[in-house]
Amino acid sequence: MSEALANLLNETRQFPPPAELAANANVTADSYAEAAEDRLGFWARQAERLTWAKQWDEVLDWSHPPFAKWFVGGQLNVAYNCLDRHVEAGRGDRVAIHWEGEPGDTRTLTYADLHRLTCQAANALTELGVEAGDRVAIYLPMIPEAAVAMLACARVGATHSVVFGGFSADALTNRIQDASAKVVITADGGYRRGKPSALKPTVDEAVANCPSVEHVLVVRRTGEEVAWSAKDRWWHETVETAAPEHTAQPFDAEHPLFILYTSGTTARPKGILHTTGGYLTQASWTTHAVFDLKPETDVYWCTADIGWVTGHSYIVYGPLSNGATQVMYEGTPDTPHKGRFWEIVDKYKVSILYTAPTLIRTMMKWGEEIPAGFDLSSLRLLGSVGEPINPEAWMWYRQHVGKGALPIVDTWWQTETGAIMISPLPGVTETKPGSAMTPLPGVVADVVDDQGQSVPNGGGGYLVLREPWPSMLRTIWGDDSRFIETYWSRFEGMYFAGDGAKKDDDGHIWLLGRVDDVMLVSGHNISTTEVESALVSHPSVAEAAVVGATDPTTGQAIVAFAIPRGTTDVTGEAGEKLIAELRNHVARTLGPIAKPRQIMLVPELPKTRSGKIMRRLLRDVAENRSLGDVTTLQDSSVMDLISSGMGGGK
Ligand code: WT7
Repeated sequence: MSEALANLLNETRQFPPPAELAANANVTADSYAEAAEDRLGFWARQAERLTWAKQWDEVLDWSHPPFAKWFVGGQLNVAYNCLDRHVEAGRGDRVAIHWEGEPGDTRTLTYADLHRLTCQAANALTELGVEAGDRVAIYLPMIPEAAVAMLACARVGATHSVVFGGFSADALTNRIQDASAKVVITADGGYRRGKPSALKPTVDEAVANCPSVEHVLVVRRTGEEVAWSAKDRWWHETVETAAPEHTAQPFDAEHPLFILYTSGTTARPKGILHTTGGYLTQASWTTHAVFDLKPETDVYWCTADIGWVTGHSYIVYGPLSNGATQVMYEGTPDTPHKGRFWEIVDKYKVSILYTAPTLIRTMMKWGEEIPAGFDLSSLRLLGSVGEPINPEAWMWYRQHVGKGALPIVDTWWQTETGAIMISPLPGVTETKPGSAMTPLPGVVADVVDDQGQSVPNGGGGYLVLREPWPSMLRTIWGDDSRFIETYWSRFEGMYFAGDGAKKDDDGHIWLLGRVDDVMLVSGHNISTTEVESALVSHPSVAEAAVVGATDPTTGQAIVAFAIPRGTTDVTGEAGEKLIAELRNHVARTLGPIAKPRQIMLVPELPKTRSGKIMRRLLRDVAENRSLGDVTTLQDSSVMDLISSGMGGGK
């Protein structure tokens, strides 16, 4: 990434941790020194936070890189660590999940409840012929049974493959086939935007092409009519009638815990494989460290879907292994009204909130008066994940959700890393808006140039991980060579994350988006993230997406799509004036080289179902091509809105 732009984003605001949080933080600055001195010893101490049936012989076997084995010879049961040990310690009455259905129905599950249900589900799976090592596909809405199904698989040593409930029959078919799943756990449907949304018909369509599937277990959620076949079994007739006693058997630390498919933006999905001991160690410790979670007093809420890795690590395994009380919400943020999230924070007195930049920017667009209408005084810590958070979105989050005072942890990680890797520690780090700051203790990240040389402070390049970490992916399911090729071949001996990044003058890390998205304008590498952040720093812009479009003179030219905030007038001349102003604003903020050739004001941006902007489609628009594959879009009508535009021009 170019020198020219590496330092142009002059973000100088910095916020120290609140004194009280710092004084009582779960993790202090000492951890950095401790881990730097003895990284493996550090991770071994974090592994000791779990209950092991058999102690490991060796912390890390890295004799055949990039194939790592952590806690070699150790044995444990993940479900035991998430449930039984809390119940055995007398904490069975603690609420594990405050569940809120989209229509407003609620359920409260204590650790004892969750334990009982999981034991029943484990017995039911065994009765259906599921054995350790078998794969089970889970295709469920955000209901407690999703967590129960995952934990029941872990309990019997079956490897789960959760498929996001919004995916099509084709996507589900591919994933079931790739893993040869024996059982599918699904529901009749879930609620979305105020209506029942069916799941079972999609499963029926998929299973028709998946001979490996022997049984389909169906949770009744909506009560809508469903077609029924010989393979189908109702959850309430199978699981809820099963014996509630089940003794969890320990599994090897490297036993496969789950497969989760990442689609990337283009290629064939990759089945990312995570195993047992190292994964749980890091998911559990990072929950404790990064969210400063106090299980006795905090109410934690991660707004992700269980279909993404964030839901795996920070709804199921991280919080439950720590004995947390959490909120789980089924639906969308604007059903039945745009204040639904804040209403939930208010109702359950949420103290730790973990959400995504896409959501924060949506809230910015809807206006600050919406969160202002609710009592958010219970909040004490805010988190962000999934994309770079623009400094202005960060400031908005702190100001309008965080009462101008709460710490924000901007957490960088990936499906592949399994757990948070780069993030502030809330009681230690003086945060900068827009920066994920520093690798966590025990994590060795760096920014390198094309040649794989570490860049000096002030420089930009590629984000890499230099040392193995406990929750790292072990391979791509069934495809070791693709694993090596994708992650370990770009730079010798380093894990290549696929993200651009820079180090600021203090050595703090700023993520700049996927390297595939970097633009090359007149020989300068320009990060889409930086131009987007510059646009969002203008008071009239809520959200922006930037792409490089082929240009006869500059190679690529910057084309921006911007969503105006709230009541901004964008009709006719006012729109043209705003566009001119925004182009100058970017030039002033980042330098003339970054001035967009063209800005289009649009009502929406195309996003994947996990909230990432689909720049590929915007490039099609910018280059006047017909649109490519739109099937992974969250809302396919968005592209019509964008192509017709709200205003346009150069
Ligand atoms: C990619 C991984 C990690 C769980 C959710 C996404 C981007 C993620 C951040 C962040 C900047 C981020 C990266 C990464 N990303 N968090 N805090 N700042 N970028 O998991 O779908 O595997 O995506 O999301 O580009 O590589 P995923």
